[in-house]
Amino acid sequence: FSPALVDSFNRKHDYLRISLTERCNLRCFYCMPSEGVELSPEGKLLTNEEIIRLATLFVKSGVTKIRLTGGEPTVRKGIDEIISSLNELRQFGLKSIAMTSNGLALHRRLPKLIENGLSHLNLSLDTLDPFKFEIITRRRGHDAVLKALDVALKSSLQTVKLNVVVIKGLNDSEVFDFVEMTKDNTLSVRFIEFMPFTGNKWDKKKMVPSSELLEHLSTRYPSLQRAPDELNDTARSWKIPGHAGSFGFISSMSDHFCSSCNRLRITADGQIKVCLFDAKEMSLRDELRKGASDEELLQTIGRAVFGKEEKHAGMENIDVVTNRPMILIGGHPTIR
Ligand code: GTP
Ligand code: 5AD
Ligand code: SF4
Repeated sequence: FSPALVDSFNRKHDYLRISLTERCNLRCFYCMPSEGVELSPEGKLLTNEEIIRLATLFVKSGVTKIRLTGGEPTVRKGIDEIISSLNELRQFGLKSIAMTSNGLALHRRLPKLIENGLSHLNLSLDTLDPFKFEIITRRRGHDAVLKALDVALKSSLQTVKLNVVVIKGLNDSEVFDFVEMTKDNTLSVRFIEFMPFTGNKWDKKKMVPSSELLEHLSTRYPSLQRAPDELNDTARSWKIPGHAGSFGFISSMSDHFCSSCNRLRITADGQIKVCLFDAKEMSLRDELRKGASDEELLQTIGRAVFGKEEKHAGMENIDVVTNRPMILIGGHPTIR
């Protein structure tokens, strides 16, 4: 394991999130400001070759899991080829090729992505009500996402998770319906606390703490049990005896999980970002385009990783965060 991926708190970073695009085919209010975001000019974005060069270096340095994000990753042309090339990196120790997608353009494309090497899918779906879907995403397409979920559940993917960002008064009444979906499906539903990002009009009053949801759910399901979490998992999982799937809570706001953080991110424009909330970034793209060798790139990566703060990018109060909007970090968020 390369020392470049170990930070000053001895956290080993073996999970890389790569944002493939800043674009998205939805406009979720919690991710993007309503006026949209200013997109980087095409020439500033990493090319497929640059993505693979960096991914290869990270895998050879110890990364075992790569997650493709965006914007919406399926919007990027050439995603099939990117996944095929990542699949070649399994010989160097890459174990999972994951993607977080909004599912809008997925149901027809998923079989090919899986054939090329995609092994894990996190699908975002915040509501089972088509009308609320339009309110949240400012677009139509609820049916298409449900179709994608169906295809995913019938596929050979190793895991399918459903991301539900819970917003008070909007979709919090639907948690029982989501939990019911775990009865017959080997699905892991994750209820996510609404997080503040630049331009998303975050309001503490709209955030539902996981503890509140859990209390609510345990009244309906007194038999619910804690389920095992994967190492470094962001979610704390629970299961109802007899249900095929499970559900969990991602409590980024009320109970941060920074001490076990193993993630690094590369934004679509080639910046390494060591924490979701960190505005300090270093450009790997510029180094690549100056002709840097692998050793030189690793030195830059090592400097960025060593500068990683203990929690929440060193901020006392993430309620007043200034960062990129989630869409630009890997929101399908890629938060920058
Ligand atoms: P797994 O690899 O399946 O554990 O996925 P994940 O949960 O890390 O990623 P996903 O893209 O599905 O993101 C789901 C939610 O996790 C996001 O909405 C964020 O709330 C949260 N999240 C992801 N990465 C981070 C992180 O580095 N820090 C914090 N605080 N939250 C994160
Ligand atoms: N708070 C919490 N989760 C968010 N996501 C996007 N914006 C936010 C936010 N403000 C989620 C998306 C996606 C995941 C990668 O991040 O719904 O599932
Ligand atoms: Fe919604 Fe994801 Fe698009 Fe953001 S990137 S607007 S969370 S679908």
